[in-house]
Amino acid sequence: SDIYRAGISGARPAVPVDGRALDAAAQAALSAEAYAYIAGGAGAEATVAANRAEFDRWQVWPRPLRDVTVRDLSVDFLGRSRPTPLLLAPLGVMELAHPEGDLAVARAAASAGVPYTVSNQASFPLERIAQSAPGAPRLFQLYWSASDQLNASLLGRAEASGCEAIVVTLDTHLLGWRTRDLDLAYLPFTRGMGIAQYTSDPVFRDLVTQRTSASATDGSPVKVTPKTIAAGVSIARKGAPLTGSRSLRDNLRSPLPRAAVETFLDVFSTPSLTWDDLAKAREWTSLPIILKGIVHPDDAERAVDAGLDGVWISNHGGRQIDRSVPTLAVLPEISERVSGRVPVVFDSGVRSGADAAIALALGADVVAIGRPCAYGLGIAGEQGVREVIRNVLAELDITLGLAGLTSVAELDRDALRAV
Ligand code: FNR
Repeated sequence: SDIYRAGISGARPAVPVDGRALDAAAQAALSAEAYAYIAGGAGAEATVAANRAEFDRWQVWPRPLRDVTVRDLSVDFLGRSRPTPLLLAPLGVMELAHPEGDLAVARAAASAGVPYTVSNQASFPLERIAQSAPGAPRLFQLYWSASDQLNASLLGRAEASGCEAIVVTLDTHLLGWRTRDLDLAYLPFTRGMGIAQYTSDPVFRDLVTQRTSASATDGSPVKVTPKTIAAGVSIARKGAPLTGSRSLRDNLRSPLPRAAVETFLDVFSTPSLTWDDLAKAREWTSLPIILKGIVHPDDAERAVDAGLDGVWISNHGGRQIDRSVPTLAVLPEISERVSGRVPVVFDSGVRSGADAAIALALGADVVAIGRPCAYGLGIAGEQGVREVIRNVLAELDITLGLAGLTSVAELDRDALRAV
């Protein structure tokens, strides 16, 4: 009702309320490369479309004449009561959308009490993100690096800076076939973006030092400090602005930025990762570990059996495999298999409070959103993200009440009709 009151008193929102209009406004606000990177999916983007289309198979089935004056959106997640069932998905390279990137998103999430998942590819070191919203609930998302030392270091830093859980993303051991980025010959990481977690890490700096020294023409050792590495990467970046025409090779001619980016590309992912390796994470952290990118019920079951602490159903917003299974289609079966033993997080395609209601009714404990936050950020910075979060939660609250329900716990299959 606050939103309606604000509207009536003449205060215009900073971002469009409707999901499609939000997308269009972001496209107008961002550079072609930034919008393509954020909005794009794999291949012909059939999975992006299927994620959305799957919601059309379900309808909310209202039951009026029930007292819904008092409604409660709270849920338990990771051993704590949360004011809402919403979570912000990890988003890398948010400097593409706004210079304040993750700092602004973290503040917006904190203001709504929504946990924020800090990306391994965030644009700021996780300690700085923590400082921008002190005490706010936060998770850290890890891309399992080829360097175990680096993994251990990142998880140690996440724990030290107050993250509540580690999210290990499993669907990006190879980068998806991203057609829009290929057409524009654009990959943010090779421009030195989204590597702040690494450049701020002592283990990563050692790796860069080794490589830089090895490639120095006179064989002399090169001292790499956080300052020199940041300066090196910013040289690479300045020389290759989003619309720049100089080739990456020219920009990376000096050894330091080249070594930093090459080291990133080397350690970024581990295509050889298997179930057996996951046990190592227990040595690196005492935090709960959630697996993100689970889309098969057998894998969900295996995760629970292996003692993992959460299952995050995701196909990376359709960015990794074209013609992959849409997440909503597999949610009911995965939720049944997990059967309350660990929390089930759901994402990919959620654009509104009504969408969130359907995912919750089909068995998700918590629902995460990705692109809408990036769009809000690109259009209006922190305020834009605040409004995106507020709009999803307000519509969820209204949907719940109009369906005749007073709590998220009451949202189950009985609240839906299959089309
Ligand atoms: C992502 N996603 C992602 N996931 C992850 O585990 N680590 C990351 O760094 C990123 N980075 C990232 C950047 C951008 C621009 C997008 C759009 C997505 C995937 C993200 O966490 C989430 O799974 C999807 O965005 C959910 O789908 P929707 O809500 O975007 O449809």
